Amino acid sequence: MKIPLLVDTDPGIDDALALVLALRSPQCSVESITTVAGNVSVERCTLNMFRILDVLKPERLPVVSRGADKPLARSLVSAPHVHGDDGLGNLAELKAADGSLRYPRPRLTLSPLDGPDLILDTIGRFPGELVLVALGPLTNLALALQRDARRMALLRRLVIMGGAVGVPGNVTPVAEFNFYVDPEAAAQVLASGLPIELVPLDITRNAILPRSVLQKRLAVCPDPVSRFVADMTQRGFEFAEEIGEGGITLHDPVALGIALDPSLTHFEPVHVAVECEGVLTRGMSVADLRMIAAGRKAPATCRVARGLRADTFLDLFLDRLCPASW
Ligand code: RIB
Ligand code: CA
Repeated sequence: MKIPLLVDTDPGIDDALALVLALRSPQCSVESITTVAGNVSVERCTLNMFRILDVLKPERLPVVSRGADKPLARSLVSAPHVHGDDGLGNLAELKAADGSLRYPRPRLTLSPLDGPDLILDTIGRFPGELVLVALGPLTNLALALQRDARRMALLRRLVIMGGAVGVPGNVTPVAEFNFYVDPEAAAQVLASGLPIELVPLDITRNAILPRSVLQKRLAVCPDPVSRFVADMTQRGFEFAEEIGEGGITLHDPVALGIALDPSLTHFEPVHVAVECEGVLTRGMSVADLRMIAAGRKAPATCRVARGLRADTFLDLFLDRLCPASW
């Protein structure tokens, strides 16, 4: 049976790559997608979601809901400098040879449910089976927990891209972007007792996609998806060069990959909480890694991914993007 997935996302270049991976993986069925304000506004994230679906043309369209337009208790901090003003590398401006828009504005077919309610509804359709993959700030999940925690407890797995356990943050010295944007939501979700698999920067920073590797693979299959990926990642590679990195860091595709194949990593139960009071430490994921008797510290709040079979993951990602046998 296919793994039923719900993806909560703030597309975002790496989110879009994760969605290509999900929508082209036969072992899963993307049942629902909820958007959330993060990399860019939720309006732009939602528009981007339909741009992605217009290009990928999945056999069965997932149900899509627009989610939270701002964090629980703070104003939105977004990342257009990383993902482009439109969130997808400014591909909305690209023109074809005849002067028409290469990616015209898509028609939005939205669920009448908002993001948190679509999460709860989808869990109700797949009780005990649904795998929820959270790729943005956790606002929708926190709101769904506030509305019906008993329903949320029917999740089979909750795979979260977020946090930085033993490495520096990527927004501040201590905070990763998704937890920084909505620390209150992250704190509520981490304290919920849900079956959380946390995929932090410690892991995702090992999955770097060099421009040359992507270009070589995309040249093998010159289809509209390859053109879209090439167009959309241009800004991502420019940003990587600006900060001296060797390519795009595949944060969200790694989390999605682990949802599809947990053997890509190994997990350790850890008590992780999220700092909401600090000025310097806002959004910090505080992990209790003390080597003391389990009975002397608080019980684990999640399972933290502690390693990545990076080559195996990259092979999986590139093969879904563009099968070598194309
Ligand atoms: O810190 C990386 C995360 O923040 C990724 O999910 C990226 O898309 C941004 O949302
Ligand atoms: Ca994201």
